[in-house]
Amino acid sequence: MTTATGAHATAMGSGTVGSAFLRACMRLPNEFTPVWFMRQAGRYMPEYRRIRAQYTLLEICRRPDLAAAVTLQPVRSLGVDAAILFADILLPVIPLGLGLEFVRGEGPVIHRPVRTKQDVQALPAVHPETDLGYVMEAIHILRGELGQVPLIGFCSAPFTLASYLIEGGPSREFTHTKTMMHADPEAWHMLMDRLSNILADYLVAQIHAGAQAVQVFDSWVGCLSPQDYQAFVLPYSRKVFQAVENLPAPKIHFGTNTATLLELMKQAGGDVIGLDWRIPLDEGWRRLGEDVAVQGNLDPAVLLAPIPVIRLHVEDILRRAGGRPGHIFNLGHGVLQTTPVDHLKAVVDMVHEYGS
Ligand code: CP3
Repeated sequence: MTTATGAHATAMGSGTVGSAFLRACMRLPNEFTPVWFMRQAGRYMPEYRRIRAQYTLLEICRRPDLAAAVTLQPVRSLGVDAAILFADILLPVIPLGLGLEFVRGEGPVIHRPVRTKQDVQALPAVHPETDLGYVMEAIHILRGELGQVPLIGFCSAPFTLASYLIEGGPSREFTHTKTMMHADPEAWHMLMDRLSNILADYLVAQIHAGAQAVQVFDSWVGCLSPQDYQAFVLPYSRKVFQAVENLPAPKIHFGTNTATLLELMKQAGGDVIGLDWRIPLDEGWRRLGEDVAVQGNLDPAVLLAPIPVIRLHVEDILRRAGGRPGHIFNLGHGVLQTTPVDHLKAVVDMVHEYGS
């Protein structure tokens, strides 16, 4: 079995790390494969829907007691190996003053999108540690409640946040985003520079507050060519990773539709690279090299099938990982709203029991 030789293992005292999730991030051997799910707290859970019936999504995010309570729900009911802070990648839009709203059936809406150089120049200064202080407070509460279960903090990568700011909401084609990138590169670079500084500060603040690992979500970056990723995105994602490089929390770099971008994403940073289901796990890992850990990569839609079918897919992924240190089981993207809770529980058990 291989052992991790990276700076994090040394910084964190690899011999003493007890959490299977943190050990896998550092490519240390484990007795079982750790598992958690992106969007593990959410509307598929009756406990979440009960809280959500009384508060909006943003109210939950801004009330540390509620955010902490919701974060704990899947940890308690599913038995996952890590908690992910309940927040949203779009929270930095609030102090940017662009008018963030979550509209039922439409998803996020940003009322004053950023489209021109003047719009970029008009963005106010943001101080995440105080402007998003409620996030740090939720982290404090959670560290007191979670015991041995590690807490993952997170932020958006600069590109995915920029795409929401520019489009004003979700998008299929990213036409406004790509138009700024190609037609007004000066505005683009100015915006990406601003966002990467804010996101770097935000991630540092979360780790200082107690996040034991962090995930950078570049959910929509797969819409880009490798050349455009390299020229317009990579330097800014790298800046975010560099800001937290020497802090004692492993970094996970996640995107979807990234089969052609994996090597470049690794160059940008991350101890763990997220893989989605569009690439077989062993092939993705081979491309990345064994000096990084990988996270993934079950298609979330498979969870809608009967449990014996799910088992075939879960075991295929575990077989491809082959018990090598540095695999964290997860979905290739977030849990779908219609997922039966029992199916997620069954996956946690399958992953934990595999090979034993
Ligand atoms: O357990 C967890 O992962 C919860 C914390 C979390 C949320 N959003 C809460 C949330 C996390 C990690 C996110 C990240 C996030 N938010 C991403 C990156 C991950 C991904 O899916 O690619 C993105 C792109 C967003 C932006 C966002 N937030 C969208 C597009 C939507 C609308 C989609 C929908 O289902 O309505 C949201 C809303 C949102 N954020 C919900 C939750 C639980 C929906 C639930 C609700 O309205 O109560």
